[in-house]
Amino acid sequence: QLRAGRSRTLALLVLDLANPFFIDVARGAEEAAYEADLNVITCNSGQRVDRETAYLAMLAEQRVRGVLLSPVTDASVDGLRRNGIPYVFVDRLVPGACSVSVDDVAGGALAARHLLDRGHRRIAFVNGPAVLAQCRDREQGVRSVLPDPIVLAAGGLDVASGRDAGARLLALTPRPTAVFCANDLLALGVLQAMVAAGVRVPAEMAIVGYDDIEFAAAAAVPLTSVRQPAPRLGRTAAELLIAETSGEDTHEHESVVYEPELVIRESTGS
Ligand code: RIB
Repeated sequence: QLRAGRSRTLALLVLDLANPFFIDVARGAEEAAYEADLNVITCNSGQRVDRETAYLAMLAEQRVRGVLLSPVTDASVDGLRRNGIPYVFVDRLVPGACSVSVDDVAGGALAARHLLDRGHRRIAFVNGPAVLAQCRDREQGVRSVLPDPIVLAAGGLDVASGRDAGARLLALTPRPTAVFCANDLLALGVLQAMVAAGVRVPAEMAIVGYDDIEFAAAAAVPLTSVRQPAPRLGRTAAELLIAETSGEDTHEHESVVYEPELVIRESTGS
């Protein structure tokens, strides 16, 4: 039963609308909202804290019913909390807050262990910005399996940053024989750099991504990836937020953490 006078609008704030992962999250959230006679507005921070802060201030002023967010910094929710706007984090585990994610530490470990199982010993990890908890957790997972991985910090989490990281990988001596990337867009950029340099994948460079977006399977060399159930993440986060803002129940909802699964394809040798 909807409380009279409450806004019928949920907001979704994402890091990068150019990343299909967030489109899939939005799809799941939108389905759950529609089923509850609510609608969703989506804001894109483009990984810029100033935009994120401006959007969250607008959303608080609009008195939206609640906010689903994957922010640049978790501290961005302070304004929502001060204004009494409920929120649920999506795509990372945030201690002490309600969040829906996969276990990114397990996801990083899964990717690293797969490459060890394929016989690789010189393994690189291309990570996104450490400000993002999900990137820190994936690196923690890699380090739980590989005591001394070759870690390259990518400038972002997009294809261009992946191409740049791929060029740096190729310049390393001795060259790694495998690379795990913090998301599929980075992995697709690394793949592009390998193909452009005539380096055979996986024979000379095995590649693993993360998210398993639709383009992973459609890549020039189908990409092995750690799958995130993106639509399910969006739907579950929206359902938690709707429950918190519709019923009288004021108890804090527990976070939901899904187990990641590895989808093995040609880029590591299926
Ligand atoms: O946007 C950065 C990454 O964080 C996405 O690819 C997804 O993995 C999210 O968790």
